Amino acid sequence: MQQLLNKIEEYKKEISSFIASDEKQVEEFRIKWLGTKGMVKAIMGEMKNVTPENKKEAGQVLNDFKLFVENKYAELKFSTDSQLTAHSSQLDLSLPGDDLPVGSRHPVTLMRNRIVSIFQRLGFAVAEGPEIEDDWHNFTALNLPEHHPARDMQDTFYVQQNPDWLLRTHTSNVQIREMEKDKLPIRMIMPGRVYRNETVSARSHCFFHQVEGLYIDENVSFADLKQTLYFFVKEMYGKDVKVRFRPSYFPFTEPSAEMDVSCFICGGEGCNVCKKTGWVEILGCGMVHPNVLSNCNIDPERYTGFAFGMGIERPAMMKYGINDIRLFSENDVRFLKQFTSAV
Ligand code: DAH
Repeated sequence: MQQLLNKIEEYKKEISSFIASDEKQVEEFRIKWLGTKGMVKAIMGEMKNVTPENKKEAGQVLNDFKLFVENKYAELKFSTDSQLTAHSSQLDLSLPGDDLPVGSRHPVTLMRNRIVSIFQRLGFAVAEGPEIEDDWHNFTALNLPEHHPARDMQDTFYVQQNPDWLLRTHTSNVQIREMEKDKLPIRMIMPGRVYRNETVSARSHCFFHQVEGLYIDENVSFADLKQTLYFFVKEMYGKDVKVRFRPSYFPFTEPSAEMDVSCFICGGEGCNVCKKTGWVEILGCGMVHPNVLSNCNIDPERYTGFAFGMGIERPAMMKYGINDIRLFSENDVRFLKQFTSAV
């Protein structure tokens, strides 16, 4: 036993003082000590000569020794590896690093952020809702009668597993979800993705994005709606842009309107974008229908409100001169890279 311990002490001294100056010497060290015919294996073999009462202690000492050799090997390997890379690539640590490629925001994101930030300045908070929605939040609560054409299978994607579920066809579902929270007043802007079962072409897609707005309080009037939207248009399209409201119909608002702005491409002269009319339609809006308020347990005698909804793709296409809506969802880096410095 004592012999064994002495031998190990000797080996340890030898190993501690060993230095390797290159990879080859490290490999020689490994073969000598840790190889299949190496010294560690050999000295482990001496266990069989140890008397039973010393076996436990000897086992411990031998295991510690093996660990000692392995650590030394790791240390040698690490130091020659790092010497190697430092030498071979002649690293100059004072050189500046390579430029990292800069990502870009998606043009739909850019347009959404622009729209949202204008309303945030008016005190609107941002809310989001689910894209997989139930019939109540997407249709029924919004005063869409059961046989309304917008519920037709051709417009709406239904979820096969449950006939009550669908992919929301507009962001108006978030209006309902916010009103149901029973916290008034509400002043919210709600961006998100929507889905419609439409043939995909350069002008329309089966999914796109909208921003919904909702303001509910006592004494909210159509004048408030107009003033809010005027502010938005001036911030978005500039001071010289003209605005007009046309009477329209939406089941969830009464009265309802659509808002046009004078064409910001041709200035109202008539061009392809405005189809020679001089006007571009940008949103639908109106006073929230009393039925919608009641559906969400809000007293229509006490509270009134306005709502509006606009698409994001079309204004983005106009602003950035994009002529095919499919480009937004093709993930072509050559397209996306062009927006690196856009705002
Ligand atoms: N949800 C309508 C659509 O998808 C847009 C809309 C119109 C939203 C009028 C509104 C509104 O909140 O008041 O076409």
